[in-house]
Amino acid sequence: MPAYGVLSIFVTTATLYLLAINVQAGASISRRVLVGSAGPAPGPSPGAPKDVRIDTASGFAATLVSGASGLAKQIVDRTQGLASAADKVEDNLGITKRAPILLMHGAIQGGWVWEFPRISQGAARGVKGLLEAAGYTVYNPTLPYHSPTDAWNPTDGEVQVQTYVDTFLKVITDQNLQNVILVGHSLAGVWMQQMLQQMPERIGMMVFVDAVVLETGESFFSNKIAGVLSPHSEYPAQAFFTITFSYPFFYQVCNRDVYRTYFVNTAANNTAFVTATYAGLVPEPHGPEMQTQNTTAFFQIPVPKAFVLGTQDVGLSGGYRSWLLFSDRLAEANNGNAPFRVHEIYGDHESMLTQPQNLAKGILQAIHGMQMS
Ligand SMILES: *[C@@H]1O[C@H](CO)[C@@H](O)[C@H](O)[C@H]1NC(C)=O
Ligand SMILES: *[C@@H]1O[C@H](CO)[C@@H](O)[C@H](O)[C@H]1NC(C)=O
Repeated sequence: MPAYGVLSIFVTTATLYLLAINVQAGASISRRVLVGSAGPAPGPSPGAPKDVRIDTASGFAATLVSGASGLAKQIVDRTQGLASAADKVEDNLGITKRAPILLMHGAIQGGWVWEFPRISQGAARGVKGLLEAAGYTVYNPTLPYHSPTDAWNPTDGEVQVQTYVDTFLKVITDQNLQNVILVGHSLAGVWMQQMLQQMPERIGMMVFVDAVVLETGESFFSNKIAGVLSPHSEYPAQAFFTITFSYPFFYQVCNRDVYRTYFVNTAANNTAFVTATYAGLVPEPHGPEMQTQNTTAFFQIPVPKAFVLGTQDVGLSGGYRSWLLFSDRLAEANNGNAPFRVHEIYGDHESMLTQPQNLAKGILQAIHGMQMS
């Protein structure tokens, strides 16, 4: 049975569960999501549309992403052609400033993902080691409840977004870091947005790695862009993320084969690698994923931003360029007047694990690009 079939089976149950926690917590899930979930669960189709149209509620024109025409406003640098095993990541980038880098892991993972050794990729200490080799001081903390010995369960009580934000901000204040380069993967995009709002004077640049960017009033769960996962606009595609990652569904839904197929697909045939990295995963507490965020100030603070995009990322349907729907939001920040660039790399959604050299290179090029702008 294809993984998507397995996922579909869980959708109805999961929606009821989410509805229940919505009622309990008084959180806001959009009506559209709940209405859509009432019908039969279609599941994301393998033949997802190439063209994905998303209407945003905030006055931007609808964004059209397609293989042919999706990059209108964005400058895309292709790192892929530059990356070879023989290249050193620090070669000839001309980077002179060495601001501290704070690496922020995504859902169901911990800080370890930035240090996972891929000797065959020339990355004995993963992305962190490669960035250190390029002369940077690098921090990669782990959020509370994000290690297998500290996994969240309901007896731990509800977690707040601010708990995560505080964890990362504490590194900046404890180490008295200035001009910090934030690098956030996937769900960490949400925490990064809040960090900029709360400590703008300490943050010099932001690199979003296949990351989520919320408009004001959205939560990770309710964000409109996750709808690209489904050919049915009413379908609660967000539930794919939430069910896949969240307690308690993670244990049934995000099994090793789902992980292999949708997250580490460029290393899918390396079973030892898949097994070793899967063992480090934990379910997300759903609270922070469901809390709506005020991101109004984020879009007005003119800190340079970049998006690193994996060309093999199949986490969203509609092709890897579906992620540009999130980066489009960054491009619109400061009315389009703030420095912004997209850098493509050969990598899947977990490039820090599967393609650390490519990702390190993409991050360095992103930093370099922002220094030049
Ligand atoms: C995995 O192996 C299959 C069968 O040999 C091959 O078709 C596929 O391209 C491989 N996948 C990767 C990511 O190397
Ligand atoms: C969101 O934050 C902005 C300030 O950045 C504030 O003006 C606005 O009132 C806030 N919106 C809500 C709904 O709290």
